[in-house]
Amino acid sequence: MMTALLDIRPIAGALGAEIHGVDLAQPLADDTIAAVRRALLDHLVIFFPGQSLSPARLVAFGKRFGPLEGHEFVEGMSDHPEVLELIKEADEGGFNFGGDWHTDVTFRDRPSMGTILYGKDIPPCGGDTLWANQYLAYETLSAGLQRLLGSLRAVHSAEEAFGGGGVAQLYRSQLRSMKIKTDGDVPTAVEHPVVRTHPETGRECLFINQGFTTRFADMSESESSGLLQFLFAHSVRPEFTCRFRWSPGAVAFWDNRATQHFALNDYHGHRRHMQRITVAGDRPI
Ligand code: SIN
Repeated sequence: MMTALLDIRPIAGALGAEIHGVDLAQPLADDTIAAVRRALLDHLVIFFPGQSLSPARLVAFGKRFGPLEGHEFVEGMSDHPEVLELIKEADEGGFNFGGDWHTDVTFRDRPSMGTILYGKDIPPCGGDTLWANQYLAYETLSAGLQRLLGSLRAVHSAEEAFGGGGVAQLYRSQLRSMKIKTDGDVPTAVEHPVVRTHPETGRECLFINQGFTTRFADMSESESSGLLQFLFAHSVRPEFTCRFRWSPGAVAFWDNRATQHFALNDYHGHRRHMQRITVAGDRPI
């Protein structure tokens, strides 16, 4: 598929497309940025193989889509605080950053609009990332369940992932090369609608994730658990996903409003190093 500006090649039926013929290290014209944004809305995650980006250029590209953010629990680079370094060394343990199905930072009132990930060191095999299309997850539910979910809100919290509990211990003991801050306060949990209307496409998508969603609002965890577990499994059914094999210099840009993703941890004995920035988002409605 060619647009006037971009060579777009879908990689799966559900979502995901590679874009060729754009050099992100160069300043890009407004119509190219508009075409990239259109491709992001159409394909939900887009990939630019074979780039060569300094942190400053990565930041400059990201800023074309909105203000960039830091992260509550991961320190950025000293000279580029918006750039997080996601590193797992060859000798680090069995735990990785982002190694479960999640949508980024939904523990915030305003979760990121999008995330841009740049592959620096890539294992010879393994270390792929998967994404799941949350429009499809919603649209494939029965009308009855859609109606019920449309009336519900859910609580999202960073406590399990970054609070004093089990996962934070794993960060401390097993990912020593990442600058994770697990000793500060965890922000108060927030509520979001379970069905979100995408602010740009106007389409409805499911907006829960196993990483941060703990229960439905005004219900206990045990009351919520059965339906939430069903939704966690349903929302990442294989036919809603794509899988990207990284190569050094590849860039992925995903729409965090309508996707979940999962960083596979299957490259023991090899180094993986990525640089990540996020574009600020709005309050889900
Ligand atoms: C993330 O969840 O942001 C990390 C994804 C990856 O490293 O593939």
